[in-house]
Amino acid sequence: MTTPASTQLKPMKKRIVIFASGNGTNTQNIIKYFQNSTHAQVVCVLSNNKNAKVIDRSLDLNIEALSFTKDEMLAPKGLLCLINKRKPDLLVLAGFLLKFPEIIIDAYPNKVVNIHPALLPKFGGKGMYGHHVHRAVVENKETHSGITIHYVNNQYDKGEIIFQKKTTIAPQDTPKDVAAKVQLLEHQYLPKVIEEILLKPQLH
Ligand code: GAR
Repeated sequence: MTTPASTQLKPMKKRIVIFASGNGTNTQNIIKYFQNSTHAQVVCVLSNNKNAKVIDRSLDLNIEALSFTKDEMLAPKGLLCLINKRKPDLLVLAGFLLKFPEIIIDAYPNKVVNIHPALLPKFGGKGMYGHHVHRAVVENKETHSGITIHYVNNQYDKGEIIFQKKTTIAPQDTPKDVAAKVQLLEHQYLPKVIEEILLKPQLH
């Protein structure tokens, strides 16, 4: 006997909350990737900077976008409550440039992931973000850079690595050139890796 379509249970879409501090090209790209997905959706974008471009980019795509203050970040129970209410399956740090609160990491074990614009463990740690990373890569005369997607733990850029992808650095490449190459990889792979994580059995 078949169940009538009207009574069949629709699988619940996985819910993604994104944290971002600035421009938000990755956030915009993730939102668009999941716009027509049957598996997952971005439900909220949170920023520590009320003037960040990521807020406008998200609102333009009809996604709830909120900012929080440094004080709210330092006493993050309210922030945790706000996150809990969105019932997320995954928290994605996509260009979030502050240390992520421990209380939130502890509340969401193995459900907080970060994208880092280099091949960790190289060029990670406090102060290593955005253009600082790309400048260090060029100054160190690296022949390769890339992206790392990893779980977030209580140490900067030290959580378990989920995915890495390399790109070649030419001797004449400037930090801006490296940033452009890395951003291409981020846009190509981050949404797909998020989708794979969400489809893994332990998150069901
Ligand atoms: C991205 O390159 C991301 O990897 C990096 O910030 C950029 C944000 O770009 N994150 C870090 O450096 C974290 N340590 P976006 O705002 O255009 O998405």
